[in-house]
Amino acid sequence: MEGPEQWVIVGGWGSASAEFSEGLSRNMGLKLVKPVFKLFPDEEEYVRIEGDISGFTGAIVVQSFERPASRSLVYSLLIADALKEAGVSRIVLMAPYMGYTRQDRVFLPGEPVSVRAVMRALTSSGYNALASIEVHKEYVLDYFDGSTLNIFPFTYMLKETGIPCGDNTIIVAPDKGSLPRVERLARETGCRSYGYLVKERDRITGEVRLAKSTVDPRGKDAIVVDDIISTGGTIALASRWLLENGANSVFVLAAHYLGIGNAEEKMMKAGVSRVVTGNTLPRKPSKIVTYVDLTGLAAGQLTKLVSNL
Ligand code: R5P
Repeated sequence: MEGPEQWVIVGGWGSASAEFSEGLSRNMGLKLVKPVFKLFPDEEEYVRIEGDISGFTGAIVVQSFERPASRSLVYSLLIADALKEAGVSRIVLMAPYMGYTRQDRVFLPGEPVSVRAVMRALTSSGYNALASIEVHKEYVLDYFDGSTLNIFPFTYMLKETGIPCGDNTIIVAPDKGSLPRVERLARETGCRSYGYLVKERDRITGEVRLAKSTVDPRGKDAIVVDDIISTGGTIALASRWLLENGANSVFVLAAHYLGIGNAEEKMMKAGVSRVVTGNTLPRKPSKIVTYVDLTGLAAGQLTKLVSNL
């Protein structure tokens, strides 16, 4: 195994990627280089890795899929190419939030499996490994041709916020897809009560509604667990249902927070008292959202990943 001093961290485009790369550099004790990002007049992306990276054989590129996700994708492709050009032979993409993962199958005829197209592009641009935090569905990582790592953040987030999981707590998945998260969190924290709601989405309008559910939240403090909050619609729906069906309170754990449009207002109106999320996307000032720094958690797992490359 080669020493960690041969690895360098390369910060990606956007505020969350910059913050995450600084945290990883601190926690892993690795040098951080910050590329210059610019746009050409026609808005094509331009990147240049400034600073001396000679002597480094491996690089961890920290590029979260910040909005617009297409720009984050292009920058991650360009950085890999620049690193190859500079003679770096092993390259890991650490995407704190991995985009395009929710279009993981053809829902309507004529659609692509977007995540497959993106994984193929990342593979062919030169990445040897891909790491992320709580990807929407873990199996999509199989589309990437190389080593992969999917970091489970919820047990850590719960501990960091000091929220107890007592007899009066129920952990709830807002849809069946989130059930594995809730099962694992229950296993790792000893929380005994958990279940899932049944969500249906109209594939044309994007509208979501809840079908019949077997969860009994009466007299309980509910912790809703999801990979991402985008427009807040899913969480608002779950919260309203839980409170109408007797829950005392609704607290939310989400790995990633996009908070698009009036997401926060929607969730507050639906009775959500607090949202805890990771620092994987740009921070937004908020009355109910708090951020947990996940770089310490990621550093340990990334160290293992690179030592096996
Ligand atoms: C869907 O399956 C995801 O796990 C999230 O529940 C969903 O993408 C959240 O989106 P929104 O906040 O817009 O409801």
